[in-house]
Amino acid sequence: MTSSSLTSLDAAFWDTNYQTQNTGWDLGVVSPPLSSYIDQLEDKSISILIPGCGNAYEVEYLLNAGFSNVTVIDISSVLTERLKEKLQPSVGKELKVLTGDFFEHTGQYNLIIEQTFLCALDPELRINYAKKMIALLAPGGKLTGLLFNRTFEQPGPPFGGDKKEYEALFSSNVRIKKMETCYNSIKPRAGFELFFQIIKDN
Ligand SMILES: C[S@@+](CC[C@H](N)C(=O)[O-])C[C@H]1O[C@@H](n2cnc3c(N)ncnc32)[C@H](O)[C@@H]1O
Repeated sequence: MTSSSLTSLDAAFWDTNYQTQNTGWDLGVVSPPLSSYIDQLEDKSISILIPGCGNAYEVEYLLNAGFSNVTVIDISSVLTERLKEKLQPSVGKELKVLTGDFFEHTGQYNLIIEQTFLCALDPELRINYAKKMIALLAPGGKLTGLLFNRTFEQPGPPFGGDKKEYEALFSSNVRIKKMETCYNSIKPRAGFELFFQIIKDN
């Protein structure tokens, strides 16, 4: 099932957002919880995926830190074309930039990083998101990042959620190692996001 079969949150929707700079989610810098997490990773050769990567400040951070096997995928070609230009020296080397639907992507990764991707999807897709994430993790692989722990008044995206809901999504083939209020969120998100880590069974 593709994401666009259930919702109008399709490539055209995201292209328009990038074309019109309607990108309220964009922090403009790597988010501190993710940079802190990246800082403690020792093996720079692990395969890393960032789905719904947007402007991918985490990718620049990873590349600067010496990580050598990073893949990003985003459904918006407007975004990915810009990204290829911005990250040009690394594209096709340490970095693969893919344009496409996460739900169609295949591969195996040691680490998948989540930030404002789940909240951008139709909530009906959350079960599929969890299944797909688990399928994309190599045995022992980790899905790590940030999830909103709040509801939103406006119709989404972003779509909110809470810890109970997220825990229920990841109830088989994985261990939830951590899902707790993030201590180093950026100010506007402080208290409203969870730092989580899910590890796929070996
Ligand atoms: C709210 S933005 C977040 C971008 C980035 N993670 C950040 O934090 O700045 C959601 C991103 O997911 C992308 N996206 C939405 N649905 C997607 C899908 N099915 N497959 C791949 N990317 C998708 C959008 O194009 C957009 O770049």
